[in-house]
Amino acid sequence: EITPVLLCGGGGTRLWPLSRQSYPKQFAYMTEGQTLFQASAQRMTGEAESYRFQRPHVITTRDFRFIAAEQLYEAGVDPGAILLEPEGRNTAPAILAAALFISAQDPDAILLVSPSDHVVPDVPAFRDAVVRGLTAVEQGNLVTFGITPDHPETGYGYLELPGPPPDDGAPCPLTGFFEKPDQATAEAMLEKGTYLWNAGIFLFAAKDFIAAVQKHAPQLIDPVSEAVTAAMPDLGFLDLDAGAWAGAEEISVDYAVMEKADNLWVVPYSGAWSDLGSWESVLREGTPDSGGVVLSGQAHHIDCTDSLLWSESPGLELVGIGLDNTIAVATPDAVLVADRSRSQDVKQAVALLKSTG
Ligand code: GDD
Ligand code: MG
Repeated sequence: EITPVLLCGGGGTRLWPLSRQSYPKQFAYMTEGQTLFQASAQRMTGEAESYRFQRPHVITTRDFRFIAAEQLYEAGVDPGAILLEPEGRNTAPAILAAALFISAQDPDAILLVSPSDHVVPDVPAFRDAVVRGLTAVEQGNLVTFGITPDHPETGYGYLELPGPPPDDGAPCPLTGFFEKPDQATAEAMLEKGTYLWNAGIFLFAAKDFIAAVQKHAPQLIDPVSEAVTAAMPDLGFLDLDAGAWAGAEEISVDYAVMEKADNLWVVPYSGAWSDLGSWESVLREGTPDSGGVVLSGQAHHIDCTDSLLWSESPGLELVGIGLDNTIAVATPDAVLVADRSRSQDVKQAVALLKSTG
């Protein structure tokens, strides 16, 4: 049995104005009729021949508790516990809290930890990859999922393999983990051909993860276990203790544990995957017409090419004429029009609006 843990933090500012601090991208209806959060929960629900998923646990912040519960209900997913962080302190404390909470009930639990804002369209392929990782987990390893890189992305973690990745997707031990390299290092790793991108999805026994934190980030253990032990049930949610939580270092699992661990394995994953981090990746993942234009909602175009036109609410008509390499996103209270090459700079729009009130 596998116990899914859905990470449901905030962020997503590069997808403004669709993704907001108050309404991050995992809750937005990005694909037809479904949010990324709902698709992520469904991907890890149900059973197959050789394994069964337990009800997914969710770890999120207080602000998102009702929307998370409502969207799970709407998607027909019956969740396990919904743990609430008093404030986001990045992924290492969040995953540790879930691991401690779950292992208190089931000391042998195997966790599948996943972001809730990624696009993984091929569910059977994803589940196959998870099953392939189980043997490595049974030997006490921490398993990552590796994506073949196609450009020198600096926003990802890189998994170092002893040689070229096996193309049958067989699990393989790692010789290193490098989180968010600089441009030159990313280019060198791409060139070398023995690195995969870390998909940000992890499979491990809860106890092995806790042992790895004890070894590599011991400062997290006391505050996080206290926050879990002193947690208060509240309307079916579990509120982690704020006082203890405030003492936990704010650090991602990649820096706190993965870069230092010596028992990492990877399952190469060749199915489609996108972390949908920017409008550029939304355009790349979308279904373009013959001119390379991706339309969403009541959006139309005349003679546009290689552009994304997105109208968010019913009744809001968006028409582009003669545009090339342009991103236009209209929501009821904000409109973004950007050159496609500047899609990483959208987070600056958020900063700009914040500074001007
Ligand atoms: N509950 C909770 N609390 N979730 C969080 C928190 C938090 O404090 N912080 C982040 N998350 C969630 C995010 O919502 C996201 O789904 C996931 O954890 C990963 O966090 P990101 O902040 O998006 O990480 P990243 O994209 O910079 O890097 C990670 O993902 C890459 C792949 O997309 C790393 O694991 C990289 O190595 C990896 O390549
Ligand atoms: Mg991310």
